[in-house]
Amino acid sequence: MKSFLHVQDIGPLDAALAEAADVKRNPFAWKSLGKNKTIILIFFNNSLRTRLSSQKAALNLGMDPIVLNVNGDSWKLETEMGVVMDGDSPEHLREAIPVIGSYCDMIGVRSFAGLKDRDFDYNETIINQFIEYSGKPVISLESGTVHPCQAFADLITIREHSLKKRPKVVMTWAPHPRALPHAVPNSFAEWMNAADVDFVITHPEGYELDPSFVGDARVEYDQMKAFEGADFVYAKNWSSYTHYGRILSDDRTWTVSSRQMAVTDNAFFMHCLPVRRNMIVTDEVIDSPRSLVIPEAANRVVSAQVVMKRMLEEI
Ligand code: CP
Repeated sequence: MKSFLHVQDIGPLDAALAEAADVKRNPFAWKSLGKNKTIILIFFNNSLRTRLSSQKAALNLGMDPIVLNVNGDSWKLETEMGVVMDGDSPEHLREAIPVIGSYCDMIGVRSFAGLKDRDFDYNETIINQFIEYSGKPVISLESGTVHPCQAFADLITIREHSLKKRPKVVMTWAPHPRALPHAVPNSFAEWMNAADVDFVITHPEGYELDPSFVGDARVEYDQMKAFEGADFVYAKNWSSYTHYGRILSDDRTWTVSSRQMAVTDNAFFMHCLPVRRNMIVTDEVIDSPRSLVIPEAANRVVSAQVVMKRMLEEI
């Protein structure tokens, strides 16, 4: 695996899930695999879970992780090609990336969508430069359009808690005060479409995601109808794809509460975190025994470790 952005990069999901179960049972079994290997984790944006789970996964595999906070610890990096660099960025990615590649064996990159220029974000302009110029395997730690380590952890969590062979999984839009990227809902849709689940997406009109990620998923604009009989409810806010990056609605009736959960089949509640309580989900739901937000976050170590392990096996 030379890069990890999409579900197809991991290959057959049953094998990936079986490997995840092995890694979870015995996280230190591959400690010698990463000996004398270095992973550099580059963060253009804030993080709690991704930063810590990626470092923990690397340590479990015997690798040495180095974290770089771009815009904080290093020179501010210019990301656009062909620009006159008379602004406040003294270094271009074009030099920085091969330099970073020369110091390590693997790279993880967090670079959120800017939500200003859809083409720039949806062309994955930043992470694709890392793939092209680093000469090293590259993992998306949430880039312009995808958050694959999160979606893989979500699928692991669903499989661990599902009593049904083909559970009903509902991803619902929920209100938020800021415009948020599409990476988490895009990846969740991509991975659920590839998994053996009955997948439904519900959101107010205007919040349609990129059709290439929605795929064959059923879209239901009536949230209560979508929730009927659900086994898993996955809440997330996202901004408009069509009116790129805009907030079109602040409809608080979409906040996930016991009202909607009552029509599910005693569904589990999921969210990638960080979550705004009583905007995305009520205290009552997130604090209930059916909330999976903590095991879901814990599985971020497992998903990252499977990806890094597979990359190490090919180095
Ligand atoms: N879910 C997730 O990626 O969390 P962080 O932004 O804290 O890394």
